[in-house]
Amino acid sequence: MRKKFIAGNWKMNLDMAGARALAAGLKGKLSQSGVLERLDVAVCPPFVYLTTIAQVLGDSNIRIGAQNVYFEPQGAFTGEISAEMLKDVGCRYVIVGHSERRHVIGESDDLINQKLRAVLAGDLEAILCIGELLSEREKGKTEEVIDRQLRSGLALVEKHEMARVTIAYEPVWAIGTGKVASPEQAQQAHAFTRGILASLYDDSVSQAVRIQYGGSVKPDNAADLLKQTDVDGALVGGASLKVDDFTGIIKAGGAN
Ligand code: PGA
Repeated sequence: MRKKFIAGNWKMNLDMAGARALAAGLKGKLSQSGVLERLDVAVCPPFVYLTTIAQVLGDSNIRIGAQNVYFEPQGAFTGEISAEMLKDVGCRYVIVGHSERRHVIGESDDLINQKLRAVLAGDLEAILCIGELLSEREKGKTEEVIDRQLRSGLALVEKHEMARVTIAYEPVWAIGTGKVASPEQAQQAHAFTRGILASLYDDSVSQAVRIQYGGSVKPDNAADLLKQTDVDGALVGGASLKVDDFTGIIKAGGAN
């Protein structure tokens, strides 16, 4: 049985006061609910708020992730942040390959693979995002895209390291659009993803790796998505910015 994993991706939102208030609100609502014993929960604030949010969350069991990383450990890379630095400020997870980084910033499959390997080398856990554009889905290329992004993203990643990898299937057309994938569409893509993991590694790896769904997850659609056999959690953008919405999604995860 895979433990569900719900992560909030705050993206480039909030100011210091808002980030603090959100973290404190989540801690207040979730700490006593018992739900954090049943599933894993993380928030991924902007870099500049990581230290503060780690302090606010303290020993609450709500973990911290970063939204990005650079693959080199240190040196003359102006403006970049290494995995070691993220670990140093209390991160456990790092999102790599988010569609906004692929399609807005222009990150390549190869760069994403280098980042993922740096996360693992830095003793952190990776959330590798994959997912097709609307045009790719319409052309029937969803599986081809998932296949390519998974194989290139996981290149040179060894079997034992897969215990520290979560996959997030995020159809790009569903991100921030309010157009959520149907539970059936999500299940189909997740089952396909699990099949690729079996071919890259073996059945035990493919059955153990958690696959989150992301793209317009809200409290009212979370339960149906999280009920699917191969949907092991959610990567939540917009709805992770509101205490009640995010806790609603987490509670749906805890009930499934
Ligand atoms: P959304 O974003 O929930 O706002 O659609 C999801 C994501 O980008 O991870």
